[in-house]
Amino acid sequence: MKTQNNTVLITGGSAGIGFEIAKLFARNGNQVIITGRNAERLQKAASQLENTTAIVSDVSKPEDVDQLVARLNKDFPSLNLVINNAGRAFYYSLSEDGIHAIDKAGEEMTTNYLSIIGLTEKILPLLKKQAEAALVNVSSIVAFVPGHTTATYSASKAALHAYTQALRYTLAKDTAIKVFELMPPLVNTDFSQAIGGINGISPAVVASYLLTALENDTYEIHVGNTANLYKLFLSSPEEAFLSLNKGR
Ligand SMILES: NC(=O)c1ccc[n+]([C@@H]2O[C@H](COP(=O)([O-])OP(=O)(O)OC[C@H]3O[C@@H](n4cnc5c(N)ncnc54)[C@H](OP(=O)(O)O)[C@@H]3O)[C@@H](O)[C@H]2O)c1
Repeated sequence: MKTQNNTVLITGGSAGIGFEIAKLFARNGNQVIITGRNAERLQKAASQLENTTAIVSDVSKPEDVDQLVARLNKDFPSLNLVINNAGRAFYYSLSEDGIHAIDKAGEEMTTNYLSIIGLTEKILPLLKKQAEAALVNVSSIVAFVPGHTTATYSASKAALHAYTQALRYTLAKDTAIKVFELMPPLVNTDFSQAIGGINGISPAVVASYLLTALENDTYEIHVGNTANLYKLFLSSPEEAFLSLNKGR
């Protein structure tokens, strides 16, 4: 996949990993569109970047997604790269009383899984028109080895992983659209502070992995320590589980 002269949509582009991806792609000669829910934070982020347009949109609201897709068709008809990055996580123990795990799991499933299915279906007709196009779904190291304090979040990313594998196969058979999955380990962003994110890698490193993987058509992107844990998982899923959960 080319990494220049694309028109790129990044959901959740006002902070963390999405912002760093936006910065790198904008600097690399791409037209970038970022979304987020908080208008002020989003405008501030866009004002720091070249070639970047901000569109307030919540991925979990179907009416917002409809408006976003209509705007993209009208103002950005050359859109050819969609990065599904916005995510939601709760950190808690399944043994706590009154935790309302079902509500937390519902929010995580909606944002991390169902919203991606919704946007993908609505944006595919536009992507099909382009000579070269790709989708990038941001999952996580916990898509294949769950964290015990992120049980329902891990499950939502596992669902996204399964969907992404099947989508990649289907679109490769029937279209020219490539499907990538970005699987970061712990990254130092606001999102991960409750689980020791300060010790994580920088979101700029994650963005540079994505750029290299697109260039090389590496479809499953095992960022940093994700590669080591994946190897361990292939040889022993039990050891991989213990390794991820030790000390957490
Ligand atoms: N940080 C980690 O350790 C880590 C590790 C593996 C995978 N990931 C994944 O990487 C992705 C980005 O995480 P991050 O660490 O960069 O998070 P972050 O620093 O909290 O940034 C999240 C971004 O998404 C936006 N956002 C959140 N919910 C949204 C929604 N419903 N609709 C639209 N935008 C929304 C936020 O802006 P608003 O709040 O204004 O909407 C913000 O721009 C997530 O999918 C996460 O699961 C993170």
